[in-house]
Amino acid sequence: MARAIGEAPGKILLLGEHAVVYGHPAIAIPLRSIRARVELEFTRNGGIEVVAPDIGERGTSQGDAPERVRPLVRLAQSVLDFFSEPHRGMRIQINSTIPIGRGMGSGAAVAVAVVRSVCQGLGRHLDADQVAELALEAEKVFHGSPSGVDNMVVARDEPIYFVSGRPARSIAVGPSVFRFVVADTGLASATREVVDQVKAGRDRDRARFDSFFWELGSMASVAREVIRSGSAEELGLCMNRAQQVLQALDVSCPELDKLVYVALENGAVGAKLSGGGRGGAMIALLGGNSDESQLVARLRLAGAESIFTTVLSRHQE
Ligand code: PMV
Repeated sequence: MARAIGEAPGKILLLGEHAVVYGHPAIAIPLRSIRARVELEFTRNGGIEVVAPDIGERGTSQGDAPERVRPLVRLAQSVLDFFSEPHRGMRIQINSTIPIGRGMGSGAAVAVAVVRSVCQGLGRHLDADQVAELALEAEKVFHGSPSGVDNMVVARDEPIYFVSGRPARSIAVGPSVFRFVVADTGLASATREVVDQVKAGRDRDRARFDSFFWELGSMASVAREVIRSGSAEELGLCMNRAQQVLQALDVSCPELDKLVYVALENGAVGAKLSGGGRGGAMIALLGGNSDESQLVARLRLAGAESIFTTVLSRHQE
């Protein structure tokens, strides 16, 4: 039979990381220049085989799957179960250009793409929120108890305002154009470990940590209004305040702080870490007249491993 295809973009968290784990809002946007793509073929041998040539991983449902691939084997099975379809052989090939462990949604995009490929192979349809829900099961293995924001934004493929356990809201963009530069520190970071350490901090000093989360969530709520009707400078203020709070939470690191500093010195009106932190990516927002190529060049000189750009505007498709 013809191959079934599933795809999903990368993502970046604009505001609300960590706070979203405790019920506060977050804003996430897709990064469409990087993607996960899954090709699925039904086979006759009955088992499920997952191959990820980019990272040299392979595993099957016979119990030999390495840790990174095992949840995807289970995820493919769970899509069959969701539709009460009999188990059948599948070969699932994963290719992805999303850097791994940098808070750019690699795990979520692969999981969403797997769900979509199985749906297409079965000739079934799920809406984006249902896809995100199924993919979340696989993410739990990587993240522990993820808020669900990553799966939702890559499944929706649009900027979202997200509160865990509630339907995500699309964000209406007003007259301003918001130009972002995302720079990868090159340091892989385990979100699950950072989230666990933040939780341990909260267990020791709940009032202080809850006030951090409250402020991070407030920045996300204010930012939603700014995106609707405000300016890049106002959104930049929200990002800068969030970075201060994230530093107080101790989830930044010298490499992220350096990229934030370089961004603010070279035309950004806001800059902060994005995602779990302690490595991973920095997101900067350009001021109205700032030169994107100059900022990109400076970030490269400052050690950024890879750089991506994205725009939030009323007119994006
Ligand atoms: O996957 P990352 O590194 O972008 O982190 C997700 C954001 C957190 O709030 C830190 C965790 C979560 O589950 O929302």
